[in-house]
Amino acid sequence: MAKKLCMQELRARLHTTVIGNRILYYPSVGSTNDVARTLAVAGAPEGIVVLADEQTAGRGRRGRRWLAPAGTCLLFSLLLHPPLAPHQCQRLTMACSLALAESVERYTGLALGLKWPNDLLASNNKVGGILTELGIQGERLEYAIVGIGLNVNLDFTAPEVAFLRDQATSLAQEMGAPVAREPLLACILNRLEARYLALCDGWSPRQEWTARLVTLNQQVVLSGPGGELEGWAEGVDQDGALLLRLEDGRVVRVLAGDVRLRPVEGQPTAI
Ligand code: BTN
Repeated sequence: MAKKLCMQELRARLHTTVIGNRILYYPSVGSTNDVARTLAVAGAPEGIVVLADEQTAGRGRRGRRWLAPAGTCLLFSLLLHPPLAPHQCQRLTMACSLALAESVERYTGLALGLKWPNDLLASNNKVGGILTELGIQGERLEYAIVGIGLNVNLDFTAPEVAFLRDQATSLAQEMGAPVAREPLLACILNRLEARYLALCDGWSPRQEWTARLVTLNQQVVLSGPGGELEGWAEGVDQDGALLLRLEDGRVVRVLAGDVRLRPVEGQPTAI
């Protein structure tokens, strides 16, 4: 029987005023992002956290599934109303991924990196990801849902996730011991609030986010909606677009896609 998250313990460790003002916990749900969106459409205020021990239709970026055996991971969504225009919303994802990296690092002692646009890495393997979905009316942002999946005690010998073993990892795998989820989640939500309020006050996550970018100043291959593109990853701009210098010297702003290091002949690459 999968272990359920204890809401009492989580609440006792939370020091926030906005994030987690309401926490909705589901032992099992389709997708926490969908629940948060239904609340947003119904006019719910920001700060609600939708949390689940299992998702039956968890999703990742670019139509991928997000898999996590029940009771092993942290799966949650935040409903927010940031004072940003729709084209600035990657800043929100950056602020949240930074908060995620900082809090997990502080709690576990592991060194974590970020991969554009929204992956959290440990030992160069994916340990978490963010799926931000927006409600837009004309030019106006109505709401943002930030969905976060973090592999905490995920065991890659479980048959449904065994195929991910070579590209993903979990905190427990990195630490060599299980990690308590409630105190970790409280740490994450506390840090998310600090970074979110700073963002609302005009702070730009660009500099600190770039400092954690694992592909910074490296030759990468981008797989995007229009095919593959190779270039030198120079960083990101204020709004989180990847700045890629092409062989002919032009710098292009990339808004969507997946990045991997360009394989050097004879050398394996993990990311
Ligand atoms: C990615 O790396 O592709 C993003 C993964 C985001 C997964 C989380 S789990 C909680 C929330 N609900 C979902 O259905 N997806 C996000």
